[in-house]
Amino acid sequence: MERGLAAIERTGCAACHEIPGIDWPEGRLGPSLRGFDDIGLIAGAVPNTPENLAAFVRNAPAVKPGSTMPAMPLSEEESRDVAAYLYGLDDE
Ligand code: HEC
Repeated sequence: MERGLAAIERTGCAACHEIPGIDWPEGRLGPSLRGFDDIGLIAGAVPNTPENLAAFVRNAPAVKPGSTMPAMPLSEEESRDVAAYLYGLDDE
């Protein structure tokens, strides 16, 4: 969880997304990542599984061609931590 949050802060996801656990900035360019567990498809394109989510947060255009979210500088391990953090948000 904490490593995921650290990676999210380092790469600046919140510039474009509202993310619980981060007060500022609360970007509006991308969708809110609150209640992310409940959606069926990531970015309306791929099934919402831990593997797909990790791949998407690392390199969205590779997972969803034409996605407006840019690839992010995350290692494979960090992208899994980020996915775990996002899935954990509903427990709060
Ligand atoms: C430059 C702005 C920008 C940054 C930075 C950014 N995103 Fe995104 N993100 C977007 C946009 C725009 C979309 C919608 C993409 C689409 O529909 O193809 C998106 C979509 C998503 C989705 C899918 C949401 C859904 O409801 O299906 C997730 C999850 C996500 N981003 C996580 C992250 C994470 C984690 C980071 C940091 C590692 C991050 N984003 C950084 C702009 C951004």
